[in-house]
Amino acid sequence: MVDKTSFLAHFEKYLAELLDGDRSPLSAIARYSALDGGKRIRPACVYLGALASGNECDEEALLALAAGVELVHSYSLVHDDLPSMDNDAVRRGKPSTHVAFGEANAILAGDEMLSVALAHLIRATARYGKPFAEAAYELGAAAVDMTHGQAIEIAGCSTRDELFYMYSLKTGALILGALRAGAIAAEADSDTLVKVTNYGRAVGLCFQLSDDLIDGDGAVKLLGKECARSELDRALSDALAYAENLPKDLSDFAMTLARRSK
Ligand code: IPE
Ligand code: IPE
Ligand code: MG
Repeated sequence: MVDKTSFLAHFEKYLAELLDGDRSPLSAIARYSALDGGKRIRPACVYLGALASGNECDEEALLALAAGVELVHSYSLVHDDLPSMDNDAVRRGKPSTHVAFGEANAILAGDEMLSVALAHLIRATARYGKPFAEAAYELGAAAVDMTHGQAIEIAGCSTRDELFYMYSLKTGALILGALRAGAIAAEADSDTLVKVTNYGRAVGLCFQLSDDLIDGDGAVKLLGKECARSELDRALSDALAYAENLPKDLSDFAMTLARRSK
């Protein structure tokens, strides 16, 4: 299998070509929203899930899954920034999509990205067969969970457990779904899949808690900074324990996510 840096470089080209196929004005808005600026954490998760399997896997199949999950993620950010949601004017260092193109276009560009993901995954399923179909289903289910997490956040969370449950859906689902999709497409055995799943839950929490520590939001507001930091330390040591006997890239990735806030 190629290394992670090459995979992510190939991913940028793959996603740009996928979104370049359509010259409509709406597609230009999707390109504005999905290309450049993202950290590509979920495509990296697809790769790491496949790597954990220890099996060879067709790189093009992994790129199709990575594009699917990153398009879902990008659409979720466009909708998340809307005035009726978080009302954020800046995303990835530039005006958010509704600020640049208007609210109706931002809603439609989000719808378009989700639809491109769906169409692309269905076409790839016909090409790559059953393990890929199961992996694509995993991403679809994760996309549903993400919307439920967003809805729970809007309703409000008042305890640690409610907050962490909401995080496991809003943020964790796409990260876990991407890791599991990579592992499933690469036909990981069931023990490895359990490890990847446990690792994915811990890594998703590391990512969100380090985000909260950077923004002073979420767990920091509800639990206090010290408590949020010790929750992060615990999630990181869980992730590292689950990553034992898996390739070192998985422990490195968990540490990178957790240490963004230090
Ligand atoms: C931001 O995700 C939204 C959350 C789930 C916290 P990322 O930090 O992965 O966003 P990009 O893709 O790098 O912009
Ligand atoms: C966004 O979460 C999560 C999704 C879009 C699913 P946040 O609202 O916490 O993240 P930012 O601060 O907008 O990136
Ligand atoms: Mg937001």
